[in-house]
Amino acid sequence: MLLWGQWLSGAWYRQRLSGCCLYRCYTLFSSASASGLAKLLHDKLLQPLSIFCARIVSGNEIADNRLNLNQNMGGDIMAAKKAVKKTVKKTVKRKAASKIKDPVFETVKIERDKGITFLIMNRPEKRNAMSPQLHMDMNDAIDYLSIDPATDVLVVTGAGKAFSAGQDIKLYFRGTADDPAARAKARRASNAWRWQKLSRFPKPTIAMVNGFCFGGAFTQVCACDFAIASNTATFGLSEVNWGIIPGGIVSWNVVQVMNYRNAVYYATTGEPFNGKRATEIGMVNKSVPAGKLKAEVMKLARLMQEKSPAAVRYTKEAIRSVRFMNEPEAADYLNAKSDALKHVDKEDSRGQGMSQFLDEKSYRPGLGHFERRNKG
Ligand code: ACO
Repeated sequence: MLLWGQWLSGAWYRQRLSGCCLYRCYTLFSSASASGLAKLLHDKLLQPLSIFCARIVSGNEIADNRLNLNQNMGGDIMAAKKAVKKTVKKTVKRKAASKIKDPVFETVKIERDKGITFLIMNRPEKRNAMSPQLHMDMNDAIDYLSIDPATDVLVVTGAGKAFSAGQDIKLYFRGTADDPAARAKARRASNAWRWQKLSRFPKPTIAMVNGFCFGGAFTQVCACDFAIASNTATFGLSEVNWGIIPGGIVSWNVVQVMNYRNAVYYATTGEPFNGKRATEIGMVNKSVPAGKLKAEVMKLARLMQEKSPAAVRYTKEAIRSVRFMNEPEAADYLNAKSDALKHVDKEDSRGQGMSQFLDEKSYRPGLGHFERRNKG
């Protein structure tokens, strides 16, 4: 048996026999494995053979999944078979997702890295100032990505040396000054993506502030769940410097992330501040040297990928919503939200988390997260 296995695993086998054929044989034979000799054959020969074939056909992940599941489920072969099928399906889905042809936009681009999607304001020669076209493009891109199964975490950033220099003073303000309809359309699009759509995005969102961030660009930073900046990024509520107020909803945004004194100070002086100062006043979570910015963002994004997606989504929705409620409303809303989570969470995170802590004793919730073995 051992020699036969070694011979099978040689180059000759891989070149001339398809792993799929063996795997299909296993499937046929296993249907007759209810009793006696068939069961013995099934357990001792066909099951290990199928694991071997699964390794050849689809990689170690699937075979390991089969092995783990068989051990965990006391040899429940049918359940293990289902799990393998699910893993194959998901592997194919993920591979297909990596080949997705994303739509092409005039002023926005999309880049991907294994479930992390970068949504990039792309007018570097204009420091990513937000023109009406950029607002339309961002709206379309966020609509598209909000239902994209290949996006686990969304990172919003800017091309070149700016995050965004705010509203395009030429195209957004002067360009629509004599055209109320065009102004209204641009304003609606501007508010929709920067706040309504981004703050309610169903997956975790991170603003990666790589450089200049002025005026209207504060809104999308505040809308994201997290913000990480380069130490040398330049922030500024510069509206006062050319005679307007922080409009749109910028004034409303800044009093939520900064304290009142700092909001008034920076809005009335227009004084620029860097990433370190942005951290001190609560505008961003942290700042790091420019060369480490992307790595820091990726670290957070990968952490988010490991947490229960349903629990993360419901948590961020809860935190965002309770800010505007009184205590009885918040208590009632949070009760209902907790109950709803049990029903919508296809991974049964709560069940997995509880059993891995109480029964398996494989982790401590106070110190880290449970292992997602039932990815939905
Ligand atoms: N609106 C329109 N055009 C802009 C904007 C803007 N907000 N920001 C930069 N640009 C354009 C410049 O006019 C210039 O165009 P040009 O090459 O056709 O002359 C180009 O982008 C590059 O800008 P520079 O000023 O040459 O670049 P520099 O790196 O020296 O400075 C900075 C960058 C500091 C961002 C500067 O451009 C600036 O102060 N921009 C305005 C920032 C601002 O106050 N934004 C708030 C707008 S109001 C609001 O958002 C509600």
